[in-house]
Amino acid sequence: MPKITLHKNGEVHVGEVKDNTNLVVRAGIRQFPYPNLSYKCGMGKCATCRCRVISGGEHLPEPNWKEKKMLGEKIDEGYRLACQLWISHDIELSQDVD
Ligand code: FES
Repeated sequence: MPKITLHKNGEVHVGEVKDNTNLVVRAGIRQFPYPNLSYKCGMGKCATCRCRVISGGEHLPEPNWKEKKMLGEKIDEGYRLACQLWISHDIELSQDVD
């Protein structure tokens, strides 16, 4: 099971999720990483769920057009939209203020 490590407001939250999990969908049903993951639309339109990938990003697919549109150059700094990701491998993310 993928292990998720989320850095948020100086704290570290760790949990395991099922294979092929969307973290925003999980938070929406109040399971880890709820309540620590910020999100709004769940549709790639607001960038509230923006995270910087610290490790494990090599397993993710290339950013989709919504991520490219919302994140622009931030993609080169390792940012992704959590609502657009289905996680199947361990990943470490930061939603700390940048
Ligand atoms: S929650 Fe709005 S872009 Fe991900």
